[in-house]
Amino acid sequence: MSEQKDLQVIVDPELCQGHNRCKAIAPKLFELDEFGHAHVVGDGTVPPGLESKARLAEANCPEFAIKVAQA
Ligand code: F3S
Repeated sequence: MSEQKDLQVIVDPELCQGHNRCKAIAPKLFELDEFGHAHVVGDGTVPPGLESKARLAEANCPEFAIKVAQA
């Protein structure tokens, strides 16, 4: 039996420098704090249909601060 696992996105606060590409690419997955640093929305579970945006955000962060993995 195949089981589809959710994707989980995380932002490493040590690496994020506030480039904001993640939020521009996937505003439903990322929010910015008062310093312009990104945080995941909710617990970081990627809703169905936003998997490619999560991967795109991961690939476009210049600081490699975003990781997408199976939950
Ligand atoms: Fe930070 Fe990268 Fe987004 S530096 S604001 S996680 S594009």
